[in-house]
Amino acid sequence: MAIRPVLKMGHPILRQVAMPITQFGAELHALIADMDDTMRALHGAGIAAPQIGISQRVVIFEVKENPRYPHVAPVPYTVLINPELTPLGEDADEGWEGCLSVPGMRGLVPRFRKLRYQGVDQNGAPLDRTVEGFHARVVQHEVDHLDGILYPQRIRDMRNFGFEDVLLPQLLPMPD
Ligand code: NI
Repeated sequence: MAIRPVLKMGHPILRQVAMPITQFGAELHALIADMDDTMRALHGAGIAAPQIGISQRVVIFEVKENPRYPHVAPVPYTVLINPELTPLGEDADEGWEGCLSVPGMRGLVPRFRKLRYQGVDQNGAPLDRTVEGFHARVVQHEVDHLDGILYPQRIRDMRNFGFEDVLLPQLLPMPD
């Protein structure tokens, strides 16, 4: 498969509402393999199909255990297709995010603390999870991509948006 170029903020595909997946064949599996390769090569926590130019409702994510960020719980490798999110409660947390489509930047973004997500995997098998914390944040960030939303649009106070190399010494940890 292949590492694909990642579209950057400003590209019109990143502003589109992506189309649902209806076929679970070789074309979808090739797309997911390219998303995997691209996410891993760039050390992302997740990637959405529109970021590699395919406006379809597919996201993948994974957060491995990292001794540098001991209080960030790992998130299992997940392929999530045609997702539906249901926030559980009103509680929101602010947390630092980055994005492969907004390279070199970080911003403080409010997200629902707890939610249920449903969808299917690459074989069409149903997925139904209730998650919280960083797992819930990653899902909300990735699913936003399918609705044409990038995290800077969610920042409440633009003073909390800046360059990673400037912010990093002030604010640790900031996983992307
Ligand atoms: Ni992103």
